[in-house]
Amino acid sequence: MDALELLLTRRSQPKLVEPAPSGEALNNILKAATQVPDHAGLCPWRFIVCSGEGLDRLGEIYSQAAIANGKSESDIARAKQLPIRAPMVVVAIANYVEHDKVPRVEQIGSAACSVMAMQMAALAQGFNGMWRTGSYAHCEHVKSSFGLKTDDEIVGYLYLGTPQFATPAKPSKNLEDFVTFWS
Ligand SMILES: Cc1cc2nc3c(=O)[nH]c(=O)nc-3n(C[C@H](O)[C@H](O)[C@H](O)COP(=O)(O)O)c2cc1C
Repeated sequence: MDALELLLTRRSQPKLVEPAPSGEALNNILKAATQVPDHAGLCPWRFIVCSGEGLDRLGEIYSQAAIANGKSESDIARAKQLPIRAPMVVVAIANYVEHDKVPRVEQIGSAACSVMAMQMAALAQGFNGMWRTGSYAHCEHVKSSFGLKTDDEIVGYLYLGTPQFATPAKPSKNLEDFVTFWS
């Protein structure tokens, strides 16, 4: 697929099934994540690629977080199931590096670019994904389970797999609502 077509027609896909990307395809996805704009070359990102038992491990972290946060029995049970909505979940972390000229917001921005880059690399190779966050992205229990420092952030859980259905095209937006030209 042509790069411009990819960017102009991209859609997310919540219904993801096996196979997940593997081998060279997965390597390309992770390489794309590390080729993003990055002020001062700090590489302020880390990725945890979960599949198979790794998804159960992720679900266990969510359910422990649900317990720690006093959630209901049904929320605790649901938490365990969340990661198995796809055959692979990449946890994308902004790994903050203290720097005079590069504030935290820029490092989070760079990590967010990684998520988009991974999703586009997946699409380009016949897979798709869905960027999710929710309460387990902003939960101290989950963050400490991954060993994050105080200033680190989970910028997203990128669910990856093979699209179960074709995704309809997204209506294009009216650029005048968002863009001002100064010329
Ligand atoms: C930072 C971020 C977090 C998101 N978190 C969720 C989420 O937790 N659940 C969800 O259904 N969609 C979430 N989305 C939106 C989806 O990834 C997706 O963009 C949306 O469903 C629109 O579909 P599209 O990408 O095909 O336009 C999030 C998007 C971003 C950028």
